[in-house]
Amino acid sequence: MKTILVTGGAGFIGSDLVRRILSEEPDTSVLTYDLLTYAGNLDNLKSCIRDSRHRFARGDICDRERVGELLGSGEVSQIINLAAESHVDRSILGPKGFAETNVLGTVVLLEAAREAGIERFVQVSTDEVYGSLGSEGSFSEESPLAPSSPYSASKAAADHFVEAFGRTFGMDVVITRCSNNYGPFQFPEKLIPLMIRNAMNDEPLPIYGDGLQVRDWIHVGDHSRALLSVLKNGESGGIYNIGSGNERTNLDVVKSVLRVLGKPESLIRHIEDRPGHDRRYSMDASKIRAELDWQAEVEFERGIENTVQWYIDNRDWLESVITGEYRNYYSAWYSGGRTTG
Ligand SMILES: NC(=O)c1ccc[n+]([C@@H]2O[C@H](COP(=O)([O-])OP(=O)(O)OC[C@H]3O[C@@H](n4cnc5c(N)ncnc54)[C@H](O)[C@@H]3O)[C@@H](O)[C@H]2O)c1
Repeated sequence: MKTILVTGGAGFIGSDLVRRILSEEPDTSVLTYDLLTYAGNLDNLKSCIRDSRHRFARGDICDRERVGELLGSGEVSQIINLAAESHVDRSILGPKGFAETNVLGTVVLLEAAREAGIERFVQVSTDEVYGSLGSEGSFSEESPLAPSSPYSASKAAADHFVEAFGRTFGMDVVITRCSNNYGPFQFPEKLIPLMIRNAMNDEPLPIYGDGLQVRDWIHVGDHSRALLSVLKNGESGGIYNIGSGNERTNLDVVKSVLRVLGKPESLIRHIEDRPGHDRRYSMDASKIRAELDWQAEVEFERGIENTVQWYIDNRDWLESVITGEYRNYYSAWYSGGRTTG
């Protein structure tokens, strides 16, 4: 039986991928490796706990010795790297941790993968590495990297290392770059779950600037399906953009959340914009559609209704992931003099 190492598998996208592999690939087992930072949660994997094909190991991707031990047994044949610090706002407050996990951690994994003779290494990257667009056009896989935030800079740097390991050492590496995800189990610091939680509690919904930043929203299930497809059939050394063509302004997304919850738009508060905030992302995903016959299936209105319903049904989960650290972080954020009303 083949074993896939999923790093960051206790996070939002990683846990969706782990569940998908276990349900769709009967001859595959999964080793989830995750540090369980504030964003990682074993509850995200509770449906897999009793599955004999799933094993969990807690640890840091920066820990070379530990990663070497995990891969040294020869059990793991493929790696999908999702472990990362993933929140842009946090990267502005503290870039160093992003360089450590997202860049050095990826290099550690690549070194250990090379040493162990791993068959394939998939790096899960982001559309944010391409920077910002004006009102026209979209990013192709050939677009130059022009990251704006410390988060996207760290992801772009990791992408360069992955490509370099492919070219220098002949490793079988593939990079995916996906647009903004939404769906169940997303930590409530990201736009959609933050807005759902605040709206459910009749609290203000903080929106950066005019809220007219455009993102291409994709359901997490469509993303994890694309990752599995790239792992199995992606071209070695290739890069695959993943997007759904569902471009919306942040303001429209928040209004959709309010509409589904039956809450008033008067809850919206425009606050000072994020420094370096990219205006628009748009993905040309024609390559993955043509080569791997993948396309996004979840239509946004249905996806957002199901997602809101999931957070309503899983309020315990939502409150359980909120720690003292989160409360301090957000109280500092709200009281930082950045609210513009
Ligand atoms: N969320 C999105 O919209 C999106 C879009 C495109 C790409 N991505 C990428 O997908 C990946 C997963 O994103 P997500 O939204 O699920 O993030 P997440 O923050 O929900 O999950 C990240 C996981 O990584 C773990 N982790 C963090 N540091 C670690 C370390 N040093 N060692 C081991 N584990 C560690 C955390 O505990 C957590 O479980 C990231 O690489 C991110 O850059 C995310």
